Amino acid sequence: MRTIIGNWKMQLSVQEAERLARDLAAGLPKRLTDVRVAVCPSYAALAPVRAALGEAPVMLGAQDVCDQEKGAYTGEVSARELVDLGATLAIIGHSERRAHVHEDDALIGAKVRRALAAKLLPVLCVGETREERDKGLRDVVVERQVRAALEGLELPARRELIVAYEPVWVIGTGTAVDPDDAVRSHFIVRETLRDILGPDVADTRCRIIYGGSVDRGNVAGFLARPAVEGLLVGGASLSAEEFLAIVDAARAAAAKGGGDAA
Ligand code: PGA
Repeated sequence: MRTIIGNWKMQLSVQEAERLARDLAAGLPKRLTDVRVAVCPSYAALAPVRAALGEAPVMLGAQDVCDQEKGAYTGEVSARELVDLGATLAIIGHSERRAHVHEDDALIGAKVRRALAAKLLPVLCVGETREERDKGLRDVVVERQVRAALEGLELPARRELIVAYEPVWVIGTGTAVDPDDAVRSHFIVRETLRDILGPDVADTRCRIIYGGSVDRGNVAGFLARPAVEGLLVGGASLSAEEFLAIVDAARAAAAKGGGDAA
């Protein structure tokens, strides 16, 4: 089953986030069995969004999590608090955090472990910059980021992990990479996960999703590739109509038998 995740970043007021959550809840069926849907508002909007979603079949996610369990970490939010607020997943290592607050691979790896310990589903983001891509370093960078975050990890029994491949240079540009290009990156992530976690765990409990300028116009191309097991959607997740169209496209692809690679 594919996973469609909306990353609302810091784009909305709390009231706007609540309204968007209400519109999504109104536009979705009561139960979803063919696709998983999640939204990730900012920390401040988590509780209001949870309330606005009501019983809608939407997972609540955070955009980050502190690597420490608790303590004197001013400004941080713990995995435990996120769980208390109803979150079940957390984006970790988004390129905007790598760039703006200089999160490094070691910190990102610690956050993945902290999320897993708190029973949050980690959505680990990896992807190369324009400069790295131009130098032909995409494969090297993607493998290095996955290894640096996950090397030595034992995925706890029955727990799952999502890796989002997001080429940094297309995020927020309105132009995604060609789906076949994304598939190549997903292959690199898959092979690296198999090496780190073993083929069985990698193939049955790790999902690899694509992010970077996904919208209703280009989503079908990604959904036609079984290797793309979901989508991380930024800008297009800020409109209920647009995000619901992406969810519908994923449901249509599921009905055709796509997207169940694992
Ligand atoms: P975008 O953002 O869809 O606006 O490119 C994706 C992301 O940053 O996760």
